[in-house]
Amino acid sequence: MKITSVELEKRCRDPKEFPRFRLPEIAFAGRSNVGKSSLINTLLTRKRLVAVSSTPGKTRAIDFFRVNDTFRFVDLPGYGYAKVPETVRNAWKKLIDAYLVNRETLVSVVWILDIRRELSELDRMLYDWLCSYSIPYIPVCTKADKVSLGERAKREEALRKSLGQDADLVLFSAKTGLGKDVLWKRMRVAMSHVEGRMC
Ligand code: GTP
Ligand code: MG
Repeated sequence: MKITSVELEKRCRDPKEFPRFRLPEIAFAGRSNVGKSSLINTLLTRKRLVAVSSTPGKTRAIDFFRVNDTFRFVDLPGYGYAKVPETVRNAWKKLIDAYLVNRETLVSVVWILDIRRELSELDRMLYDWLCSYSIPYIPVCTKADKVSLGERAKREEALRKSLGQDADLVLFSAKTGLGKDVLWKRMRVAMSHVEGRMC
């Protein structure tokens, strides 16, 4: 995908602020610090479009990025960061729920998992939830560069046991660019399914 323009269209802390103009949207979800912002930067070939941090739980609002003036990338706040006070966590959850349940322009969720970790309780909640609302999703295992090739295959198999053998996982690394083309292809297919019924 050739990226000709990217702009941070809106940073929203309340559903009332979500952009009204209808464009197809791909949302990025995953636990705090999993690598969502790095993945978005890699896809858009922008080094610092989305702030990447070593401090988990940094993304607290929903960021809407308008890409090529034709679709949006939506960076959802990471879930499950224990050190955040419960009131803040509840506010995040409400914001994410409001987006995922009601957003008619949502085409697909890129669900990001750390290849080295087991699914957390919150990962499972999101998974059950995507399934029960029939929201299309693309499971991505990121930070693949952090494990050996042999370990990658083992981790992939372990995740398939949790998500079902037909789970079509994308192995990804923001560091090496592994999986970038495959993920773009999957997102393009998802967007092509909704072409014509967005405007
Ligand atoms: P929050 O917004 O805070 O929830 O985090 P996030 O999910 O957006 O993660 P972010 O992209 O900020 O990355 C968190 C840390 O993981 C940073 O130190 C990144 O450099 C590192 N990181 C992200 N992706 C990769 C990857 O593919 N490989 C390696 N080696 N490090 C990564
Ligand atoms: Mg982030």
